[in-house]
Amino acid sequence: MSKVTYIDEVDIKNKTVLLRVDFNVSLGLNNTIADDVRIRQTIPTINYLLKNGDRIIIVSHLGRPKGVVDPKYSLSVVVKRLKEYFPKEDVVLCKTPDDVKKSKKKFMVLENIRFFPKEKNYSNLFAKELASMADVYINDAFGVSHRSDTSLVGTPKFLPSYGGLLLKKELEILSKATENPHRPFVTIIGGAKVSTKANVIQKLIEISDYILVGGGLANTFLCAQGVDIGGSFCEYEAVESARKILSLSKKNRAILEFPVDAIVADKNFRQMETVKIGEVPKGKSIFDIGPETQACFGNIIAQARTIIWNGPVGYFENPAFKNGTDFIYYSITENGRATKIVGGGDTLAAISRKEYLDKITHISTGGGAMLEYIEKGTLPAIEAIKK
Ligand code: 3PG
Repeated sequence: MSKVTYIDEVDIKNKTVLLRVDFNVSLGLNNTIADDVRIRQTIPTINYLLKNGDRIIIVSHLGRPKGVVDPKYSLSVVVKRLKEYFPKEDVVLCKTPDDVKKSKKKFMVLENIRFFPKEKNYSNLFAKELASMADVYINDAFGVSHRSDTSLVGTPKFLPSYGGLLLKKELEILSKATENPHRPFVTIIGGAKVSTKANVIQKLIEISDYILVGGGLANTFLCAQGVDIGGSFCEYEAVESARKILSLSKKNRAILEFPVDAIVADKNFRQMETVKIGEVPKGKSIFDIGPETQACFGNIIAQARTIIWNGPVGYFENPAFKNGTDFIYYSITENGRATKIVGGGDTLAAISRKEYLDKITHISTGGGAMLEYIEKGTLPAIEAIKK
């Protein structure tokens, strides 16, 4: 059976390496990086290659520039950050694969791969052109490995291809947690939409013991059970899919837990109050889980031996409604026995500046990729490097 070979299992010395990473970092004001966890997590791979005397060509996307050059998404911010992490290296930004090939530098970054229309619009020719820059291809881009973009699934066809150390860590932890979890295995699923998470929830009801559902997503499930949620957000087109999951859950392992109370407010976020689910006053909407729900979810989290969390349980962007998400985070960090995995852009945005981050076993660099990997057990860009 074909499998991924990782860079620490082979001898890659004095080679030119195309290192596909996911440096799709969140940007803040004035073109600054708001959170560089995705860069930091690849440092072990980069150090490993530098130690082996390899020349590095970083290939990454940033944002969704749609095949045109958009200075807002230039990787120059990433180059600046890399220079801080690797002060001894002369890190240079190259605009095109040709510029990379002409350069004699040891540490290069190819400009945002999504500036090239053929990245999203699959092209064997472009895949080959990228491959012609290097001797070896390495995927350390777990966060984008659910995409079938040219640099992810095409380029590995033309080069000896391996997995990087971050990819190895992500796959080992996630597969161990989902294939052979210490139980109770508790998953916490939040965020806005059922439609983007329906498939993974269908998988999770087979393998986890509890699924704690919060966020806008929970409202759609409540609707599907005929509960009146007042003017709260509901994804009406996904109610049927929520109903199907509810019915499947009866025949499967996991117990689904929904909020029993909520913090509601009017459309201007005023007149906040705590109400029981089913008693949302007219003109008000649900914005966070309430204290009874916290107690119930907290109890289950405290007993867990494996925890996977994806998605905030309330409208955390507004500080008035971030208590529920904070509570989930602290409950997870307080459980000293469990393997704790957290992933997803929104989830990371909600917790990334908090204390106790080191108490999380693994912060996954994948959002969509993590969910799809749990659902399918593999991803297109992982398949592409299997030999
Ligand atoms: C992510 O941030 O989830 C990955 O980098 C994938 O980005 P994409 O959704 O734009 O493909």
